[in-house]
Amino acid sequence: MNYLSINDIDNLSDWVKEAIALKKNPLKNQDLGKNKTIGLLFFNNSLRTRLSTQKAALNLGMEPIVMNFGSEGWALEFEDGTVMNQGKSEHVKEAAQVISQFCDVIAIRAFASLKDKEKDLAEEVLTAFAKYATVPVVNMESSVGHPLQALADAITLEENKVNHKPKVVLSWAPHPKALPHAVANSFIEMMQKQDANFVITHPKGYELNPKVVKNSIIEYNQNKAFADADFIYTKNWSSFKDYGKVISQDKSWTITQEKMNKTNHAKFMHCLPVRRNVVVVDAVLDSKNSIVIEQANNRTYAAQIVLKKILEG
Ligand code: CP
Repeated sequence: MNYLSINDIDNLSDWVKEAIALKKNPLKNQDLGKNKTIGLLFFNNSLRTRLSTQKAALNLGMEPIVMNFGSEGWALEFEDGTVMNQGKSEHVKEAAQVISQFCDVIAIRAFASLKDKEKDLAEEVLTAFAKYATVPVVNMESSVGHPLQALADAITLEENKVNHKPKVVLSWAPHPKALPHAVANSFIEMMQKQDANFVITHPKGYELNPKVVKNSIIEYNQNKAFADADFIYTKNWSSFKDYGKVISQDKSWTITQEKMNKTNHAKFMHCLPVRRNVVVVDAVLDSKNSIVIEQANNRTYAAQIVLKKILEG
């Protein structure tokens, strides 16, 4: 099996429960990955994904090999039939098959360019590796989704569950740089599988891909969205319609304690890394209701349950 999107999970609730059990006894399946290798290919930077996926592999007895493909690998060609007389040195057809001989699982991080919407929506890098690799492929954040993050978020929501149907709010917040849509997309897809009152809030113009949002509720008034929320999940993203553009850095959308006071003592979540006092003020990030560190810790168990399912075949 591949793990390319949250839709590769057959039963989210079961996977979350199993991940929480693994967390209590992470070395239980050490024999499962014995003599197996996972290749982690990074076309972009990472802290959490890089370390947590290695940790998950080690917990399962696997050997991780990490390659910063973006800076250390040959520049890859993805188009079929290209005359390769320009900057690209190797076609993904050979690269994916060769790496498959060295690794039992291939995990890939390749962000959106935020320049070519069609190529980004086609998840060019991830799709090509999934097509040409002869071993399972794991998405460590593609141009469209970040399903390992969303699974860790589901684990974190379950561990912090309230005794009523929760209100979960995904809130846009300002950021100086154009950021991809992947984390927000996978969080939305994951929430659509939950029994929750889920609300997305962002300024007008920041509507995400309608094919992802479907009929999830959008509330353009952030204060109204925050009312009685149990979880505030904050993330910046660039415009989808005016593709990849920062169309507003409206500071009134920064998450402050005043805004958190409108909620039902909501837990604060963010995938990290986060820009302090731009996205969220120190007082909220450092408060007892902030669960971002625990959320990052769950990245290991999200990756571990995915690799366990792959190894079990
Ligand atoms: N949340 C997340 O994916 O973190 P990194 O970019 O540091 O891996």
